[in-house]
Amino acid sequence: MRNEFILGEKFGEYSGRKAKLLISEEAIHDRVKELGKKITKDYHGSSPIIIGVLNGCILFMSDLFRELDMDSEIDFIKISSYNNDVKTSGTVRLLKDISCDIFGRDVLIVEDIIDSGLSIKFLKKRMEECGTKSVKIATLLIKEHTKVDFPIDYVGFTIPEKFVIGYGLDLAQKLRNLKSIYALQ
Ligand code: IMP
Ligand code: MG
Repeated sequence: MRNEFILGEKFGEYSGRKAKLLISEEAIHDRVKELGKKITKDYHGSSPIIIGVLNGCILFMSDLFRELDMDSEIDFIKISSYNNDVKTSGTVRLLKDISCDIFGRDVLIVEDIIDSGLSIKFLKKRMEECGTKSVKIATLLIKEHTKVDFPIDYVGFTIPEKFVIGYGLDLAQKLRNLKSIYALQ
């Protein structure tokens, strides 16, 4: 595991910037295990639909799902708010909808990170409008300044106001495959 690396030329205006290790592969693994235990306990007697938010959720979702010792189903939704930049564009676009029926069901949304809170607000509202029984949220990361007017039920790590990459999180669609999480300096 590298402690830091420099972004190459293909990253355009970000080339030459340093990325520093923020959360190691081992720390992620341990925390995901804990979250899995807690979610399994909380959903005892229920069979929720776990909805991953593409693309960022892929690694967190697959690791978390393996830690759930209960009946559950999965589906995915894809939205966009970042336009290949390191800041939110301010609007959320739906790129791919879920394909299952969530009426009367317990839904757990799985996000990679909550920053401005815009995306998760959009997603929660959208799920609730489908007549769900309950909607809860699991996010691997949340940024320190983030304010939303509803609870975030499961949080992996609270992180500083930095742009982060790795473990599913991208910079201009790249670097998602890093096993640890790095912060752009
Ligand atoms: P929000 O709508 O501002 O809360 O941002 C939500 C989405 O933007 C997340 O689900 C991520 O896909 C992306 N995002 C936010 N912060 C970061 C970051 O630091 N690195 C990579 N993607 C991010
Ligand atoms: Mg996301």
